[in-house]
Amino acid sequence: GIPIIIDCDPGHDDVFALWLAAGHPALDLRAVTTVGGNVPLEHTSRNARIALSVAGVEDVPVAAGAVGPLGRALQTAEWIHGENGLGGPELPEPTVPLDPRTATELMMDVLREAGEPVTVIATGPLTNVAILLRDHAEAWPLIREIVWMGGSTERGNVTPYAEFNAWVDPDALAVVLETGIHFTMIGLNVTHAALVTPAVREQLAAAGTATAAFGDELLDFFCRTNGEVFGLPDGPLHDPVAVAAVAEPTVVRRVRTRLDVELTGVETVGATSVDLDGVLDREPNAWVATDLDVDRFWESVGEALARLR
Ligand code: BDR
Ligand code: CA
Repeated sequence: GIPIIIDCDPGHDDVFALWLAAGHPALDLRAVTTVGGNVPLEHTSRNARIALSVAGVEDVPVAAGAVGPLGRALQTAEWIHGENGLGGPELPEPTVPLDPRTATELMMDVLREAGEPVTVIATGPLTNVAILLRDHAEAWPLIREIVWMGGSTERGNVTPYAEFNAWVDPDALAVVLETGIHFTMIGLNVTHAALVTPAVREQLAAAGTATAAFGDELLDFFCRTNGEVFGLPDGPLHDPVAVAAVAEPTVVRRVRTRLDVELTGVETVGATSVDLDGVLDREPNAWVATDLDVDRFWESVGEALARLR
C-alpha cells in the first residue's frame, strides 16, 4: 500500500481518519504523530493511542509533537470534542504505548527508512509538519505529498472566514506552502458534504465490529455538539476525507490553484484565500478539493471499520 504518516489532534473525526488509514487496503500506515489542537497535546496523544488500541492496531508507533502553534497561543475546541477530546464513550486505557521519540524524530526515521517517498496526511493544525520541514530540508524530497484537512474555499467554522486548523496555526500553513512540496487542501467546502446522517450512522454501525460500536458512541456525542454549536446535527466528519483522498483519489475532485493564508487580518486571521478564478496572476501552488463522492466515501469508511477489530 501507499506509505503514509498521519499527523493529527484527535478529536472525534481524527479518530475516524486513523481508522480509515489503518483499515484501508490501499494504505500502509507507518506512523502517527500528534499535535496540540482540538485539545491539549497530552489528550490528543492519549486519544491517538486509544483510537489505535480500540481498533487492534498495535504495530504503528505514536509520537507526540508540538504542544501549540509556532507563534501563537493554542486555541482548543472542547465545545465540539469534550474536555478530553473524545467526549461520549467511556475511554479504555490505551494498550498502544507512546513512542519515546518526538514527532519530528519519528517522522524523520520513517521517511529515511521507507525507501520510497511517503505521503503525509495532516488532520490538525500544521505545526508539526512545519517544524519538520523548517528544521529538516533533507525531509523535503522524501515526502511524496502533503494532504491536509483544513481551510475552506468558502466560509470558516471558527470565525466567519477561518477554518479551525488554519486558524490555530496559520503560520505553519504558510511555512508548509512556502516549501513548494506537492500540497492538497481538503477544506470545509468539501468536508461539509461528509454528513453523518442517521442513515450513515446505521451504515457504519453495520460494520459490526467493536471499533464500529465505539465509533457510534463517538458520533453520538459529535453530532450532538455539532447540532448545538453549528446547527449541523449531522456533524460533518471532516478528517477522514483527507485520508480517502489519498486511498481513493477519485473520491475527491480537485483543482490546481493558488492558495494563500491570512496571517495578519483583523477579522480574518487564518482565512484561506483560494484563487479559483485565477484573478491574482500568481503561480498555482496547491491542489484544492472541490467535490466529494459522498456515497463512495462512506462506503470506504464502513469497509475500513469492518476490517478492524
Ligand atoms: C477540523 O477542526 C477540528 O475540530 C476537526 O478535528 C477537524 O480537523 C475541522 O475544522
Ligand atoms: Ca482534526
